[in-house]
Amino acid sequence: MTPFFLLLCTVILCTILYCFLFKKETISTRPPPPGPRGWPILGNLPQLGTKPHQTLYNLSKIYGPLIYLQFGSVNVVVASSSNVASQFLKTHDANFSNRPPNSGAEHMAYNYQDMVFAPYGSRWRALRKMCNIHLFSAKALDDLRPIRQTEVMSMTQEVYLHGKKGAVVDVSQVINVCSLDALSRALVGWKVFQEAKEAIELKAMVVELMQLAGVFNVGDFVKGLAWMDPQGVVRKMKKVHKRFDQFFDALMEARRTGKNKGEGRDLLSVLLNFLEDGADFEEGKLTDTNIKALMLNLFTAGTDTSSSTVEWALSELIRHPDILKQAQEELDSVVGRHHLVKEHDLPNLPLFQAIIKEVFRLHPATPLSIPRVGENVRDQRVPHTQKCNTAGKLVGYW
Ligand code: HEM
Repeated sequence: MTPFFLLLCTVILCTILYCFLFKKETISTRPPPPGPRGWPILGNLPQLGTKPHQTLYNLSKIYGPLIYLQFGSVNVVVASSSNVASQFLKTHDANFSNRPPNSGAEHMAYNYQDMVFAPYGSRWRALRKMCNIHLFSAKALDDLRPIRQTEVMSMTQEVYLHGKKGAVVDVSQVINVCSLDALSRALVGWKVFQEAKEAIELKAMVVELMQLAGVFNVGDFVKGLAWMDPQGVVRKMKKVHKRFDQFFDALMEARRTGKNKGEGRDLLSVLLNFLEDGADFEEGKLTDTNIKALMLNLFTAGTDTSSSTVEWALSELIRHPDILKQAQEELDSVVGRHHLVKEHDLPNLPLFQAIIKEVFRLHPATPLSIPRVGENVRDQRVPHTQKCNTAGKLVGYW
């Protein structure tokens, strides 16, 4: 027997023992929701394929809107209808405020020091409240409108001038720079990149991080295999994290040394004031790491999502010239050829709104939700969760 074979047998034996011990906690008195049978040890992981959101959608057509799966030793329920999703995300939101432990949060999101993966608690609440007040509330969106409009105007001018010269325009690139500039002015108060090539580099980092975060890392579900990092995911996560960390260190440094003062009302200023006031949470004081981790959440969640959605909208319109023509006619009649479309024109552009909604439906930037975990979920009101002590939950948006 070769040493490798011996090692493999040991790993498999340990994993079976682990799964057995772990499963003892979740012995059910009721049948779980329906779902496909999985493989030994890995459960349903090998069945997910390269497009898990499409696999899960196809499974929902067979098993219904609530499916039960096993990813390694982890019990997972997947909600695939708006009704079931709303029970998890709205009615019983409080039961599912935590995220399951995962290597992305550990190795990329500063070991859960961020907002998205932080355990539920006072820091979790305070960071979300700050983002709501300064970024997502109706008032914040109104206050940030001039930033969005100036950035859209300069993008339009650039495209127009290139077009006049008959030059080729890399549409993907100008849209990316526009969303990054608008977002970075809102987050840190200045355009973080003066050169398009730096913005392209950040986009590549964001795409890499999103792709790594979307991989179903076997080590997260079969703990006995984590040390092997069989897909090489953790190694790549550590590398991309290092690059992001250098970027955020430079941002903080630029603000602290006064190199970039910001526009005064940006989120970074608010956070730094908080830090200087010695903001204290149940989990300890707010730190530089928390601020960098929150910036990481926002830069990664907010750039490629927006720009890829706009790119898809343009591609779909090019593929459907009849709809493109109708949309141009609507713009001509409502806005006219000599004005830029403004956000306040949108209520008068029903076809345009329908196109946007259709693009969100066809090409959701995040086709699966960020998983949540219910601790001690034995809530009789949420169907089927009586089964598990710990249940991971995913919502399919695709
Ligand atoms: C087309 C644009 C966008 C789409 C389609 C989109 C979609 C989503 C989806 C589906 C989620 C997961 C919700 C969940 O499962 O719990 C999410 C989370 C999030 N998004 Fe977006 N998003 C977009 C733009 C943005 C922008 C511009 C920002 C920031 C300025 C942002 C910040 C966030 C944050 C921070 C989260 C995590 C929320 C949490 O943990 O509670 N997103 N987004």
